[in-house]
Amino acid sequence: MPFEPVAPTIRVEPREIAKDTWVIHSVQQATGAPLLVHLNSMVIRCAEPIIVDTSTPANREQWLTDVFNLVDPDDVRWVFLSHDDSDHAGNLDVVMERCPKATLIASWALTERHANAFAFPLDRSRWLDHGDALDVGDRTLRAVRPPLYDSPTTRGLFDESTGVYWAVDAFACPMPGTVIESAAEFDRSFWRDGMAMFMHHALSPWVSIVDRERYAASLQQSRALGSSTIASAHSPVIPQELIDIAYDLTLEMPSIVPPPAPDQAVLDAILGAAA
Ligand SMILES: [Fe+2]
Ligand SMILES: [Fe+2]
Repeated sequence: MPFEPVAPTIRVEPREIAKDTWVIHSVQQATGAPLLVHLNSMVIRCAEPIIVDTSTPANREQWLTDVFNLVDPDDVRWVFLSHDDSDHAGNLDVVMERCPKATLIASWALTERHANAFAFPLDRSRWLDHGDALDVGDRTLRAVRPPLYDSPTTRGLFDESTGVYWAVDAFACPMPGTVIESAAEFDRSFWRDGMAMFMHHALSPWVSIVDRERYAASLQQSRALGSSTIASAHSPVIPQELIDIAYDLTLEMPSIVPPPAPDQAVLDAILGAAA
């Protein structure tokens, strides 16, 4: 039976953000607000090509086309799974099937949590935890946990050769009605409020109860990488000149009061409009 997407997504062309490093985009309408949200993943066409997260089943056919236009399935050597959420692991089964030479970069915790939904091929797996390095032939990739995350299994991925950092769900921020591909296009107060909305309501509400000093030290672990570009699953790409601002905003998150989350009145309005 053909796969039926569960939610419509908006097509956005893949974009090369550094040499041989591509962000694979799709965009989804937010529920209950006139906002759009990126659902990104990444491909690095290095000596041993790697797919970084597998996007959402909502965009399966387009995503597979975009990825395999950039890299032949037989050439894919690695699949990095950042964590066990459906917008990151949504096409994992298809990718592992279509890429017979690929090894899955997971971890014990990721395997343990996600084994109810995916039959991990342990003989094709490698476990990479925070701080561990992976040699992919012409460069080293390092697993570095982002400052904010929504699963205990989350590891970001830093490419030491290009300086690109895959920050997973960190820096997530919706877009105000039209697709933008660079955070440079954000109005600064929208960026602050949008990031706060996502972090406090949808991603890491624990940020409001953290010890500030320990949070700052934890954040510094990825900030100290000195990334050249940050790609996040749910943000426009963050260019080098905005990375300090993005980290400053993230550092400020514990004390920012977010806009209110849509409540039952909003759901009633959605249902009323649809009736
Ligand atoms: Fe997530
Ligand atoms: Fe996500």
